[in-house]
Amino acid sequence: MENCVRLVIGSYSDIIMAREHGRRIGKEIGFPVTDLTRIATGISEIARNIVIYAESGEMFIQVVESDERHGIEIKAHDNGPGISDITLAMSDGYSTGNRRGLGLPGTRRLMDEFKLESANGRGTTVIMRKWLLKSHVI
Ligand SMILES: Nc1ncnc2c1ncn2[C@@H]1O[C@H](COP(=O)(O)OP(=O)(O)OP(=O)(O)O)[C@@H](O)[C@H]1O
Ligand SMILES: [Mg+2]
Repeated sequence: MENCVRLVIGSYSDIIMAREHGRRIGKEIGFPVTDLTRIATGISEIARNIVIYAESGEMFIQVVESDERHGIEIKAHDNGPGISDITLAMSDGYSTGNRRGLGLPGTRRLMDEFKLESANGRGTTVIMRKWLLKSHVI
């Protein structure tokens, strides 16, 4: 199976497909089940934001590697309305959609690296990674 996928995100079934790809690729690398759940949850949150706030977008999921560690990288991009105040959007409880406002800050806590790039009218890009030391793989 491919360990690099590009997915179109435009519906709730696409969110489920994205999270399953993340879980599968993470499992192939050797992530423990707890991390697989974190990865799948993070992917769901970012993909759901695309569907709700931007209608559609795309997501790339791939393996990244260095000498000591490997990991999973998720890049998400949409051409939706964008986020004018990133600090506000990253704070717990902030939502313009009358929701819980936990998707972005929660996902940052679940991942090892999290970068959000966005501006009003310029779409939104999220790049996030989770790492695993190769020596930890049994
Ligand atoms: N892809 C996006 N495009 C435009 N705005 C976004 C996008 N993702 C997030 N936002 C904005 O950032 C806010 C915070 O997002 P976050 O995911 O943390 O919370 P939420 O989606 O409102 O609620 P929850 O994720 O808890 O259901 C959103 O309410 C929305 O205003
Ligand atoms: Mg959300």
